[in-house]
Amino acid sequence: MISDPSLFPKDLFRGKTVFVTGGGSGINLGVASNFAALGANVGICGRTQDKLGHAAIGLRELNAHVEGKVLPVAADVRDPAALASAIARTQSELGPIDVVVAGAAGNFLCPAEELSPNGFKTVIDIDLLGSFHASRAAFEQLRERHGCIIFISAPQAFVPQAYQLHVGAAKAGVDMLMRNLAVEWGKFGIRANSIVPGPIEGTEGLKRLSTPEADAKAKQVVPLRRYGSVDDIGQAAVFLASPLAAYITGTVLLVDGGSALVGSALWNQTVETLPRAKR
Ligand code: HXC
Ligand code: NAP
Repeated sequence: MISDPSLFPKDLFRGKTVFVTGGGSGINLGVASNFAALGANVGICGRTQDKLGHAAIGLRELNAHVEGKVLPVAADVRDPAALASAIARTQSELGPIDVVVAGAAGNFLCPAEELSPNGFKTVIDIDLLGSFHASRAAFEQLRERHGCIIFISAPQAFVPQAYQLHVGAAKAGVDMLMRNLAVEWGKFGIRANSIVPGPIEGTEGLKRLSTPEADAKAKQVVPLRRYGSVDDIGQAAVFLASPLAAYITGTVLLVDGGSALVGSALWNQTVETLPRAKR
């Protein structure tokens, strides 16, 4: 759960504060871990305090070399007031926020004709509104710090995939939100970018959408012939937040081994063969 620390100075983010929504598990925890390993103070938020508390133990070990701080703070990103209060607490306990990672998301497989209005709304609320709420609530701190926002998007934003209508709409919205913020907040020294992870090994997202048999087939068509790791995404996030990316804003960075290049035809066939419980 840690990148090769020799690739960047181990104190690159010392004294900086990174706030990660959905940071208690999976890809977002991988992102939080990579920042912690480089000395950042890290705030993680999600709905489940126990899960966050457990994740925080590992993060504290990672940034112990700079006496970094870690704050697990429960909030539902759909609740702007709760999220604003989590962000305010992060500022008061860890210092003003330099980097927001908007990664909280919800997903399930569902054919469009079976998707209920509330099912559609739920994913839009978590992914899209949640990303707006995090950006908006952190604005003053980001302006003060000339910070950046990294949105965790998905290939569904631009490659239509069967049974992923809600996710496609939500993540396309996230990428457009990102571009608008890059345009409007550039003058404040705030950068905004999206990362599009490909299929990432060992994650809840993959578990919900696939099976080991389907994964074995899918890996054969990924140009790099493997799924990604949470560190692949964490390292991209660290790069985007680093001075190396000082002139990068408004971009969607695909970290997917080339997966999007081959489209969704195989997926659209495979999804029909998955057990009913998955869809
Ligand atoms: C159809 C479903 C459904 C399903 C929920 N709904 N699951 N519809 N098929 N499998 C509908 C419900 O019926 C309800 O609509 C509405 O969605 C809200 O459901 P709740 O259970 O009340 O919602 P909530 O408790 O808020 O939970 C949100 C959730 C849940 C998204 C439904 O799964 C969740 O908490 N997920 C968080 C973790 C997660 O999804 N991680 C994966 C992220 S990965 P009605 O009409 O009945 O009221 C990701 C992957 C991208 O995004 C790409 C990977 C390759
Ligand atoms: P995950 O572990 O389930 O991550 C989602 C996180 O969001 C969880 O920690 C969850 O914690 C939190 N969350 C969900 N709803 C929330 C809410 N309403 N308020 C606050 N937090 C909430 O899944 P993952 O697969 O690692 O996905 C992480 C990100 O990567 C997502 O943005 C996903 O769309 C993206 N992505 C994943 C893949 C993949 O292969 N897995 C591919 C492309 C993109 P709680 O449930 O405790 O709240």
